Amino acid sequence: KYQLKTKNLCWSFPVGIAAGLDKEAVAIDFFSHLGVGSLEVGTVTLRPQLGNDRPRIFRIKKTHSVRNSMGFPSSGSETLLKNLESSPTKSLCLGINIGKNKTTDNKDAYQDYKQLLDRFQNHGDYFTINISSPNTKGLRELQSKNYLRDFLQALELDKVKKPVYLKISPDINDEQLKNIYEVSRSSSLSGIIATNTTAQHSYGAGGVSGKELTSRSHFIYSKLLQLNADESSFDIICVGGIHHISQLVDIWSQGGKLVQIYTALIYQGPQIFHHFASSIDKALEKSHASGLQELLSDPQSLHQYFSHCK
Ligand code: FNR
Repeated sequence: KYQLKTKNLCWSFPVGIAAGLDKEAVAIDFFSHLGVGSLEVGTVTLRPQLGNDRPRIFRIKKTHSVRNSMGFPSSGSETLLKNLESSPTKSLCLGINIGKNKTTDNKDAYQDYKQLLDRFQNHGDYFTINISSPNTKGLRELQSKNYLRDFLQALELDKVKKPVYLKISPDINDEQLKNIYEVSRSSSLSGIIATNTTAQHSYGAGGVSGKELTSRSHFIYSKLLQLNADESSFDIICVGGIHHISQLVDIWSQGGKLVQIYTALIYQGPQIFHHFASSIDKALEKSHASGLQELLSDPQSLHQYFSHCK
């Protein structure tokens, strides 16, 4: 009853785990049992690398936020491949999030991504191209007008047999966002994942996630949902500071479907999935819809069915 389908993906629950929590794909079985809709493993880099010096994760407790400057610590693609091969059959939608090595120049970055797409072609259900981490110097430049079109073209995405998503930064203006959307639409991408962490804060190095990111991410994914209003084959996956069912209802009423979380899981624990599920149960009862997918087909009535979720 919680299942949501888009043209490209099918999740058994509308909320999945965002990238960076199970970087090495060692906890797929654990997350399957939590009842999450999807798990995005990685970011994985082609070759092993250490990432930035520790400490590199900091809680900002008073605002339920986190700052991290991980810098893609990764055992590399060979190890991830082995972990995926030895993990038991999974019952959730599995994404593989890929990034370039720190030592790879932007002009050669497409080669890292292309090799990663090739290496994992028989694994997972979708790919995410991460060009939005603030912790790898210059990475976000790949989102810019100068790079993005050529970069995506060089990846030859039409030859990839699985949906491929682009994960973007929240630290962009309207014009940049529109350009990313248009270039992405005219490529073979299946959608955009918005957003990664923000670098616009005053806590020090790294990117901030959680409630301090909420308004920035909301602004970006709402804009994308607007731009994408008539496109049923292109997905906008919303992520960034999502911590309450009312945010899901807001996303669904704008035509969005799939959502990811990370920081809210750290602060609220796995209970958060139970909260989401029981709020959906109540709405289904009120509406007499057979499942969430049917409920979402009438976005205008959603606020009424979810009026218990203030
Ligand atoms: C992340 N995030 C992240 N994103 C990504 O694409 N690749 C990665 O390796 C990581 N690593 C990572 C580590 C840590 C400690 C955090 C807190 C976050 C970003 C994450 O997937 C998500 O986009 C943001 O955290 C925003 O969502 P939340 O946390 O506000 O729900």
